[in-house]
Amino acid sequence: MRPKILSLVLALSAAAPLSFAQTYSECNPLENTNCPSDTALSSNSYTHDFRSGADKSTWSETSEAITYTSAGAQFTISESGQAPTIESSWYIFFGSVSVVLKAAPGVGIVSSVVLESDDLDEIDWEWLGGANQEVESNYFGKGNTTAYDRAIYLPMEDTRDTFHNYTVLWTSDFVEWIIDGSVVRTLNYADAVNGKNFPQTPMRLKIGTWAGGDSNNDAGTIGWAGGHTDYTQGPFTMTLESVSVVNYSPADSYSYGDTTGAWRSIAVSGGTVNSNEGGYASAPSSSSSSSSGSSGTGTTTGSGMWWTASAAAVRASSAAGPALSRATSVAKAAVVALAAALVLLVSP
Ligand SMILES: *[C@@H]1O[C@H](CO)[C@@H](O)[C@H](O)[C@H]1NC(C)=O
Ligand SMILES: *[C@@H]1O[C@H](CO)[C@@H](O)[C@H](O)[C@H]1NC(C)=O
Repeated sequence: MRPKILSLVLALSAAAPLSFAQTYSECNPLENTNCPSDTALSSNSYTHDFRSGADKSTWSETSEAITYTSAGAQFTISESGQAPTIESSWYIFFGSVSVVLKAAPGVGIVSSVVLESDDLDEIDWEWLGGANQEVESNYFGKGNTTAYDRAIYLPMEDTRDTFHNYTVLWTSDFVEWIIDGSVVRTLNYADAVNGKNFPQTPMRLKIGTWAGGDSNNDAGTIGWAGGHTDYTQGPFTMTLESVSVVNYSPADSYSYGDTTGAWRSIAVSGGTVNSNEGGYASAPSSSSSSSSGSSGTGTTTGSGMWWTASAAAVRASSAAGPALSRATSVAKAAVVALAAALVLLVSP
């Protein structure tokens, strides 16, 4: 993201506590039916270890220098106006993203990992440099920022001095935020205003740092970021060790078929939509097999397809709790449906 756009974003997001929520898109397909299509990640996975250097064929960088050391990519802020950020050249359409990083220190300094679509769907991780023991998880649908009620701050240990593995698992049914293999938050489709606010369009990845506490920002931003940034305490550096991505719908490109922003309206060229609908919650735990590594064949759901196996693998390395609670809520829904059916039966 260019600093100019960032300040526009900040200027537009006055007052309420804000996240990295985008209020700007170069071409918003919900407003303009002539937007260019999005380049897709053509393979089903991508991994890069930044300890071995940059990957400039995948990531574009903002003008601020990002340096590469044996610890990883360094996103450093040493003076006002800097916002070193990398942005992926491709988009994914459902899948998972894991980053291994150490957040930047410094009051008012924000480290962020953002999945973002052209119509302003967003899934975020954000770390505040003044709060070493928590991470913010957040999401937005279709740029809806009318209420900032979606952020959940998750307690954890030592975000600044220890590398942690932060994963987002994204299907058409739910989003999970996972830290070091433990599911820490689940957002179900229905819980996001019956899907209206659910992130569901092809997203690219933006990773960087910025100074929410810069005195040029409005009071709301500075307050959200944890206070004024004192640059004399810097430089402030986030270290990104690695990024690994799974794309459930590897393809050439994605385009919006209409202006609904619904995932079923997305046209996939040179591939198929694999939304992993139902997710691994309904996938057989044992026999999901045959991962050929090739893309699926035309269906949107499928146990046994490689993307189910992939989700199951993430699941296997994650805590069991949330699966149980999802199963519980499914069971609850079944009971409610049964009760409703009985009421219908017995009513005259
Ligand atoms: C925006 O989100 C809020 C909930 O945060 C919801 O009440 C409202 O209906 C949404 N607006 C639109 C246009 O979807
Ligand atoms: C990060 O966590 C995910 C989910 O548990 C896991 O699949 C992945 O292998 C982990 N990555 C690293 C580098 O440990």
